[in-house]
Amino acid sequence: GSPKYRFLRHQGLRPTRKLPDALIIGVKKGGTRALLEFIRLHPDVRAAGSEIHFFDRFHDKGFQWYRHHMPPTLEGQLTMEKTPSYFVTREVPQRVHEMNPATKLLVVVRDPVTRAISDYTQVSSKKPGMLRFEELAFLNGTGGSGLVDTSWGPVKIGVYARHLERWLHCFPLEQMLFVSGERLIVDPAAEMARVQVWDFLGLKQVITEKHFYFNSTKGFPCLMKSEGRSTPHCLGKTKGRNHPNIDTAAVERLREFLPPI
Ligand code: A3P
Repeated sequence: GSPKYRFLRHQGLRPTRKLPDALIIGVKKGGTRALLEFIRLHPDVRAAGSEIHFFDRFHDKGFQWYRHHMPPTLEGQLTMEKTPSYFVTREVPQRVHEMNPATKLLVVVRDPVTRAISDYTQVSSKKPGMLRFEELAFLNGTGGSGLVDTSWGPVKIGVYARHLERWLHCFPLEQMLFVSGERLIVDPAAEMARVQVWDFLGLKQVITEKHFYFNSTKGFPCLMKSEGRSTPHCLGKTKGRNHPNIDTAAVERLREFLPPI
């Protein structure tokens, strides 16, 4: 921009939109919304609130389009975005690398079997009358004895190593941070401490226990306040759903195929 514009920006007076420095790339149903909402508590982080899907759906719209979907930031603030389908979409690692090979990547991982059930729960909430989980997860539909249907989305997404391999063709492992979806629930402050001390983000430790309280009605940690709201609130109704009971033999069989991380 012009010298005046650069001056104002330098003084921290002129917010501008930048391409993201860090991305939450997945995994779907891992706890990606929780991580995004928690990290946005940090004064040096600004994030897009919705999933932009630039690298998987709207790549042909170009970087200018993408940048305009980012929030305005001041000098020194990190820009972030989360779209969980990035992790599993073939073309995405190369495209992110083309934008900026120094992009920091965050992945929320969760036990892949629970993740599959969570994924199924979400899909079936939108499609009443869907077959049972056990019938969809196995090829012959019998559950406990059948072959795992690896082409079924909820299973396929959980083969983390396969997707990760593609990312590692483009980015060094050190540039990726794996956040535990389980720990984000049982001890959000401790997991957020890990995120904040991660050198690549270079954040000060600001998010602590004080930001969270456990809401026993919801059964999940909730926020005391956030950028948008000064009163206590939880994530939306679609986060922290009740899962259906799945036949134990089917869970065990699936667990052999999708070992815990
Ligand atoms: P369930 O709804 O199956 O329990 P994502 O945001 O990636 O779609 O992940 C959704 C999952 O985030 C939820 O799956 C839930 O288990 C988890 N989660 C983690 N922290 C949460 C929180 N504080 N409130 C609600 N859900 C949370």
